[in-house]
Amino acid sequence: MNQSIDQTIFEPRIVAFLCNWCSYAGADNAGIARMESPANVLPIRVMCSGRVSPEMVMRAFRSGADGVLVLGCHIGDCHYINGNHRTIKRMPLLRNLLSYIGINPERFRLDWVSSAEAPKFAQVTKEFVEVVRGLGPIVEEGWVG
Ligand code: FES
Repeated sequence: MNQSIDQTIFEPRIVAFLCNWCSYAGADNAGIARMESPANVLPIRVMCSGRVSPEMVMRAFRSGADGVLVLGCHIGDCHYINGNHRTIKRMPLLRNLLSYIGINPERFRLDWVSSAEAPKFAQVTKEFVEVVRGLGPIVEEGWVG
């Protein structure tokens, strides 16, 4: 066994709320195309990104997530017309709330991934896992939910 391998690499737990119509399909297509994406991501399918409330994000953090992703349809492509307009209004407020309660807002990311953007899904999840890995475990920030 190679003793020089660092056994203490932090593997963050990421909860990803994925819109059924775009981002979940994008994730599915990434899997079908055998694209590499991190195993750290726990996908939660929601019908629209506008369905994701700040309470749901906070519950994910309270349940032990080190980072939370919300991925939805691009603006103009929401299957409920303006669900993602609600998302884009809510999420900056959520970032302020996270900051206020002592969670680094970098632990939260909102992005748009269509069903045709499997490579983007893989890229966004990889980038986010690296960002959160760099921040370390959420418990080390002193936040105890
Ligand atoms: Fe995808 Fe609304 S249906 S963001």
